[in-house]
Amino acid sequence: MTVTRATFDEVMVPNYNPAKMVPVKGEGSRVWDQEGREYIDFAGGIAVNCLGHCHPAMVKALTEQGNKLWHLSNVFTNEPAIRLAKKLTESTFADRVYFANSGAEANEAALKLARRWALDKFGPEKDQIIAFTKGFHGRTFFTVTVGGQPAYSDGFGPKPGGIEHVAYNDLAALEKQMSDRTCAIMMEPLQGEGGVISPDADFVKGVRELCDKHNALLIFDEVQTGFGRTGSLYAYQQLGITPDILASAKSLGGGFPIGAMLTTKAIAEHLKPGTHGSTYGGNPLACAVAEAVYDVVNTDEVLQGVKHREKIFKQKLAEINAKYNVFKDIRGQGMLLGAELADQYEGKARDFLNAGGEEGVMVLVAGPSVIRFTPSLVIPEADINEGLARFERAIAKVVG
Ligand SMILES: Cc1ncc(COP(=O)(O)O)c(C=O)c1O
Repeated sequence: MTVTRATFDEVMVPNYNPAKMVPVKGEGSRVWDQEGREYIDFAGGIAVNCLGHCHPAMVKALTEQGNKLWHLSNVFTNEPAIRLAKKLTESTFADRVYFANSGAEANEAALKLARRWALDKFGPEKDQIIAFTKGFHGRTFFTVTVGGQPAYSDGFGPKPGGIEHVAYNDLAALEKQMSDRTCAIMMEPLQGEGGVISPDADFVKGVRELCDKHNALLIFDEVQTGFGRTGSLYAYQQLGITPDILASAKSLGGGFPIGAMLTTKAIAEHLKPGTHGSTYGGNPLACAVAEAVYDVVNTDEVLQGVKHREKIFKQKLAEINAKYNVFKDIRGQGMLLGAELADQYEGKARDFLNAGGEEGVMVLVAGPSVIRFTPSLVIPEADINEGLARFERAIAKVVG
């Protein structure tokens, strides 16, 4: 059966509006479409393909596990899930892991756990969840409501209650909002979808102190920042504080759907048998692949390589900007970078993304005025150079 992009419009729910070309093959940081055109991938499946496409270690893990055992549900456990959980607990603050299938599900579990913890320990009044404007936490109704972009949560009827928002990096506003009624703060340690916005140096420490003062849990959504993306296994490890609950997904599976919620033993105990679950969470195929990703990513070579690539990327973007003056800021950390467009190109990030596609490079946007780059953590330097040369041609096209 021959299918094309036009077939998509005939058979798919129209909640997505994908690019005009249909990718059919990927290898490393290169992708080919149905016409055989080649692209350099600076999008990485929205910060997912942390080892590029079809990394041999992942293919090996998937094929080996695929020949052994695919699925049993959580009525039984399995070796890959236990091994992966053990590795995650050995390299983070966490003592306990819950597996899900996506970032939203990992966050959903985190929020439900926080609410149950607060109910058990302090009673029903302690239900306030505070999150940040421009934050993004997923598309389930709870997580999208906690996300700070009403455009995504409006229009679906009554929202889950007890959720409030303050501006990111505004510690005074947060302090004003918090009380002993606060159950949890949910935040990204670097806002991805909201525009690649880093926290101020004192902000995260201040949030931690306020959580301690009011007996509230600090939930870090590391769905986008986690698993090597910022140059450490998790971003919190560079911030000098420890969250109480952490959500991981995206790079964790490197392209295979998996999410995880990490927490301490004392907090985990509030999710007793039967309180929460998922048919597929902790599926052996997903966990075997994630374990292979972990073994490659959690090494000095890869993590330091991320820092090195960040420098190259930022320097080359600055060189491009010196010629075209299109960016007013180049920011972000590791392989989660953002270039904010200069005022005269405000709202035009998609034009640059589309021109990039025409020139053979895949980039992302983060809001209307920020171009986002989330390539593979191991993208070869030659591909960075070639991709940015193509992107420079795209910029020349847009600015005329
Ligand atoms: C910070 C953050 N949290 C949660 C999510 C939702 O993850 P998923 O789409 O896997 O549900 C995303 C996805 O972009 C994200 O960037």
